[in-house]
Amino acid sequence: MEILGIDVGGTGIKGAIVNIETGELVSEKHRIPTPKGAMPSDVAEEIAEMVNHFNWKGKVGCGFPSIISHGKVMSASNIHKSWIGIQADDLFKQHTGLDFKIVNDADAAGLAAMTFGSGKGHKGSVIMITIGTGLGSGLFHDGKLIPNIELGTIPYKKYKYYEHYAADSARKREDLSYKEWGKRFNNFLEFVVQVVSPDLIILGGGASKKIDKFKDQLTVSVPVIASQFENEAGIVGAALKAK
Ligand code: BGC
Repeated sequence: MEILGIDVGGTGIKGAIVNIETGELVSEKHRIPTPKGAMPSDVAEEIAEMVNHFNWKGKVGCGFPSIISHGKVMSASNIHKSWIGIQADDLFKQHTGLDFKIVNDADAAGLAAMTFGSGKGHKGSVIMITIGTGLGSGLFHDGKLIPNIELGTIPYKKYKYYEHYAADSARKREDLSYKEWGKRFNNFLEFVVQVVSPDLIILGGGASKKIDKFKDQLTVSVPVIASQFENEAGIVGAALKAK
């Protein structure tokens, strides 16, 4: 079965058609820059643009960078505040005529890793941490998703959120070397371990591809591996959610 998977991020909206039996992309990936300010109507227009690009008429799964409860957006750290309270599945249906399943982006990335990747068959607690504009977290216990575990938006010292201190956007904004930033990220992982005691940490998101540049800084007591999906996990997991 093929499903269109879309991953809405702070800087880009990415989509591809996914074979949900194998987890493979059966189309090229398509990327549209996230509209400035990421207002609901602007993002919805780009979602329609994505659907048109693939001339898609079937089901759509969409990873979204916020807490999602029954299709409704419940938080907004890297998107416009006016998203809060919006029923995203209905909004996207109005713009496309298609049925959407919306899922937190890190939960989606984790689903892909647990179904087809490094987390497959893993018992106990596994957490997916996505490193991008924000810091996403997706927790699984005995392979089952516990949705909306939000660890990147916990306050940390002078920073409003941990992600303002240790996301990839913080590395860029503060012009940190990978060594400096890696120490911060390790600090965040120590916090993650303290809160959820995972048996395995899987890294996703754009910066996980650069793990060789910061792995020496990771001294946390739990094994940390990069998701072999690299940046496609969000798309694949979103499609899986719409099954
Ligand atoms: C959001 C999370 C999201 C993460 C990664 C955070 O700012 O609050 O829900 O998973 O960014 O996009």
